[in-house]
Amino acid sequence: LKATVIADADFVISKLDRRLFGTFVEHMGRCVYGGIYEPGHPTADANGFRQDVMALTRELGPTIVRYPGGNFLSGYDWEDGVGPKENRPIKLDLAWHSTETNEFGTNEFMVWCKEAGVQPMFAVNLGTRGPDEARHFLEYCNHPGGTYYSDLRISHGFTEPHNIKFWCLGNEMDGPWQTCAKTAHEYGRIAQETGKVMKWVDPSIELTACGSSQRLMPTYGKWEYEVLDTCFDQVDYISLHHYMRNDGNDIKEFFAEIEALDYFITEVAAIADAVAASRRSTKRIMLSLDEWNVWYKAHTPDDLKKPGWPKAPPLLEEIYNFEDALVVGGALIVMINHADRLKAGCLAQLVNVIGPIMTETGGPAWRQTIFHPIADCTRLGHGEVLRLKVDTTTFETKSQGDIPHLLTAAVRDPQTGHVAIYALNRSTEDAMELDIDLRGMGAGLALVAATELHHADLKIVNTKDNEVIKPVPNGSATVKGSRLTAQLKPQSWNVFAIE
Ligand code: AHR
Repeated sequence: LKATVIADADFVISKLDRRLFGTFVEHMGRCVYGGIYEPGHPTADANGFRQDVMALTRELGPTIVRYPGGNFLSGYDWEDGVGPKENRPIKLDLAWHSTETNEFGTNEFMVWCKEAGVQPMFAVNLGTRGPDEARHFLEYCNHPGGTYYSDLRISHGFTEPHNIKFWCLGNEMDGPWQTCAKTAHEYGRIAQETGKVMKWVDPSIELTACGSSQRLMPTYGKWEYEVLDTCFDQVDYISLHHYMRNDGNDIKEFFAEIEALDYFITEVAAIADAVAASRRSTKRIMLSLDEWNVWYKAHTPDDLKKPGWPKAPPLLEEIYNFEDALVVGGALIVMINHADRLKAGCLAQLVNVIGPIMTETGGPAWRQTIFHPIADCTRLGHGEVLRLKVDTTTFETKSQGDIPHLLTAAVRDPQTGHVAIYALNRSTEDAMELDIDLRGMGAGLALVAATELHHADLKIVNTKDNEVIKPVPNGSATVKGSRLTAQLKPQSWNVFAIE
């Protein structure tokens, strides 16, 4: 196969918002307990934070981390997770049929964020609760002092406000599985009033309204329109959730799930703009893909709920194989190429629960296959996303028709001139000769790194003893003058760093 690409420094889609490369920590399964937090673990620090997980988190490099849920959020009382640990109530978590000890809460998470070098993305419970708790919680987090809730935070040892800027108004409120799900009308109103009072408490915050919990929801589209039509003036973002599946064990259809994400983003932006148009408004609601990943294997009733009310049981512990890493890489390319509307993204989740990092409670931590495309993006994706002209062969799929073999994105930092190119060859049979014309980027371009993820076995997985899937150098790549050429192996994820 052959593919040619023109990348011109002057043809820019948008500046890349680095919050596109975020992740998610929910109180569920072993994400918090046994994941980021495990007092007594041989690597735990004085706060109980696992330092092996911390090191892998830093290597993964997420920019923003969503917390505390997820479905858990819709029954969560934030007050339970602050103050002296010995006074914190133990409660039933209806979302995951677990027992929540509340040993870990807002302040612990904020300390963890600082150590990990990430920004927080918080969410307020609009399932069982509403505007009153949300305004008090925000006052607790962001008000400097001199009021009941800000002084309560200070009394808990946090003199400085947390200054949390990015807030989600609830989670998946359209889903019947949600604790106190809502109709679009009910949710739109509660989001409007909650958003209003939250911005009165702190006008510097940004707010995300819940979009549909997936593109296949029967209310998809109508939900977005009605919700935004109601809370348009209060919110800045609308959320999307997209989990890609390979139920039919058909790699071509699995690859086509990436196209479904592409359509999803385009459609939600169009709906948001239709709401703006109906008001003759120039305001543009941006998109936050605040949950996305591959998730379909760990989806049995046993993965979603364990008998009884166990504490931190193993849930949704998806074991990722090589094809999952390719699909995750493809989704990242789509996200980058939508940088004009998509301003935040959270890979769900960070550790153990559909996570790029796996741990054994009391044991080691390791990288799943999907870790690598994410780390490649967080490490090298800085600057502006270029609008590429791509010529590539295509292949046929049942769900999305003909789709391109090559998916690619280029990000260039105008300050340093550094360019990162991501390229996914979706042919499972053929290698691809890639030829990229790098225009308007000056003389003396040099290839500083070329790596590939490739394996003949799409189903191979990483284990704690053997991380088979990891990037290796692609020796075929060269940059001569303004031309990058490389051979992309069949079914491969490729990264080129040029300076
Ligand atoms: O990420 C796992 C779950 O998926 C989240 O709790 C929920 O929001 C979504 O359905």
